[in-house]
Amino acid sequence: MRNHPNSFSTMAIHHGYNPMDNEGALTPPLHLTSTFTFETAEAGGNMFAGEQAGHIYSRISNPTTDLLERRIAVLEGAEAGLALASGMGAITATLWTLLAPGDEIILDKTLYGCTFSFMHHGLAKFGITVTHVDLTRTENLKAAMSDKTKVVYFETPANPNMRLVDIAAVASIAHAGGAHLVVDNTYATPYLTQPVKLGADIVLHSATKYLGGHGDVVAGLLAGSAELVADIRLQGMKDMTGAVMAPFNAMLILRGLKTLALRMDRHCSNAATVAQMLEASPAVQKVWYPGLQSFEQYDLAQQQMSQFGGMIAFELTGGKQAGIEMMNRLELISRAVSLGDAETLVQHPASMTHSTYTTEELAEHGISEGLVRLSIGLEGVDDILADLAQALPVPPIKTAA
Ligand SMILES: Cc1ncc(COP(=O)(O)O)c(C=O)c1O
Repeated sequence: MRNHPNSFSTMAIHHGYNPMDNEGALTPPLHLTSTFTFETAEAGGNMFAGEQAGHIYSRISNPTTDLLERRIAVLEGAEAGLALASGMGAITATLWTLLAPGDEIILDKTLYGCTFSFMHHGLAKFGITVTHVDLTRTENLKAAMSDKTKVVYFETPANPNMRLVDIAAVASIAHAGGAHLVVDNTYATPYLTQPVKLGADIVLHSATKYLGGHGDVVAGLLAGSAELVADIRLQGMKDMTGAVMAPFNAMLILRGLKTLALRMDRHCSNAATVAQMLEASPAVQKVWYPGLQSFEQYDLAQQQMSQFGGMIAFELTGGKQAGIEMMNRLELISRAVSLGDAETLVQHPASMTHSTYTTEELAEHGISEGLVRLSIGLEGVDDILADLAQALPVPPIKTAA
């Protein structure tokens, strides 16, 4: 491997690859192969026994995904990485590996809808206790931890209401109680926050989002210690879920990573401008964006994020109905789930990404029925602002009495 300086973008473009090892090919080769040939029968047996390095079968490892795994590890500041079929593949493979019947998982209040569903309708069916604790107040975690607690899990910022959790503070409490900390870093990306450096044992991603960045692939990534990642590879991924990333998808994510820093800078600056515009509008009741001084956890955002991301949640004074009508008036901004794409996307979590929650659960978990979620894209910010301005309801005109 060539000796490169360590800046984030340089590593995202070069780490782990030397063209001269591949006939000078600037772009890493795509290894479309399901299986690998053993030099001898003994060599094959040794590889299965873990006594000899090498690729066996692409549900375990593949050279194209291997390069992506090394890149996500270095970008997250972790020892090892693992590529999976989807973000849900990363979450399920991790938790099936770390938990057993009788164990408890402690979760923050707000989670992406399918993650919430997996916890309550998946893990809970297999004798695992699923407990929600408000992790924005770390003293709550101290009180809730018991001998049974084996994993603490949260998203920061959380999908969809942007709440933040103090990674370092939660990591020290989780570790003191003998639990692993797993952090979903999909919203922030390693460019803004590196949870492993703050104490997380596993950081994971829906790479479908910012890491891929172009809305053309569903993928998952995780990173952590070499030992834990090897366990998740051989148990959760290989045997329990089979949620392996296809080599072609690994190539798309490798391409996306090359521009991650550039794209995130633009997502963040566009989102900051849009958040300010929304906050100033009389049609808007509340905006949740970690870069706004009005954001309840503004100090934690300053401490834990280098910039404040491309996601915004807001609620109109007219509530849910006004939000739905506004969404239907948008012309440039697409009504679509997912996030982190070049295109600005809008969706209504209560009826879409978080419809896995019942109405009572939405209220209990801090997801307002009227909340609208924006994933701010890479278009010219004036065009995004103009589309929102024409779609926002005209506020009632105050007439003199
Ligand atoms: C925060 C978060 N985690 C995990 C996932 C699941 O990822 P995927 O759709 O790639 O399975 C999503 C999907 O929207 C998400 O928003």
